Amino acid sequence: MATVEISTLVKGLCEIPDELFVCEPVYEFLNSHPVELSSLDKYLHFSPKFYTRNLIYKDNRFEMMAICWEKGQVSRVHNHWDQRCWMTVPIGRLKGQNFAIEEINESLGYCKLRETNSFELAECLAATVDLEEPIHQVLNLAEYDERAVSIHIYSKPYDRCLSYCRDTDTFKEVTLCYTSIDGRLCDGIQL
Ligand code: SIN
Repeated sequence: MATVEISTLVKGLCEIPDELFVCEPVYEFLNSHPVELSSLDKYLHFSPKFYTRNLIYKDNRFEMMAICWEKGQVSRVHNHWDQRCWMTVPIGRLKGQNFAIEEINESLGYCKLRETNSFELAECLAATVDLEEPIHQVLNLAEYDERAVSIHIYSKPYDRCLSYCRDTDTFKEVTLCYTSIDGRLCDGIQL
């Protein structure tokens, strides 16, 4: 399949009418437009300390980010409120692990999770976050033994989420920030 520059992917997403900016059409669009790797170069920042979130594009409807994962780095177990979320993995491979809530007491910040299905992504395959079961974790497993880059599309853009600790069965709201915007490192970021 022919690859497209990341700017072409953004343009194509912007052209999708609002009523079609839902799970299946965006998923199909991503799967049929694999990204040209060289067009990602300026967005790729890796850190040995944390996975990096690199903003490529943002408007009122969606944001697109390149997330760079060193070997063994994983996201928090987190939700996406009721945002839609798609991801595709042009470099390396990643595991996605979904969770279901087994018990919750919101006023105590208590939440017991149970692992449900998992999936693996590579070679520009796309996935969507299940709106029925939106709690998940993304993992670049040490056994994969390579760096990975994923492209995430969040609609609407979001800057906070709930983060779950499985050791203590607790959860709290956390703020999310960018490592770089349009290729430039954000103030205060040290890789
Ligand atoms: C993040 O956005 O920081 C984590 C990646 C994800 O699971 O969507």
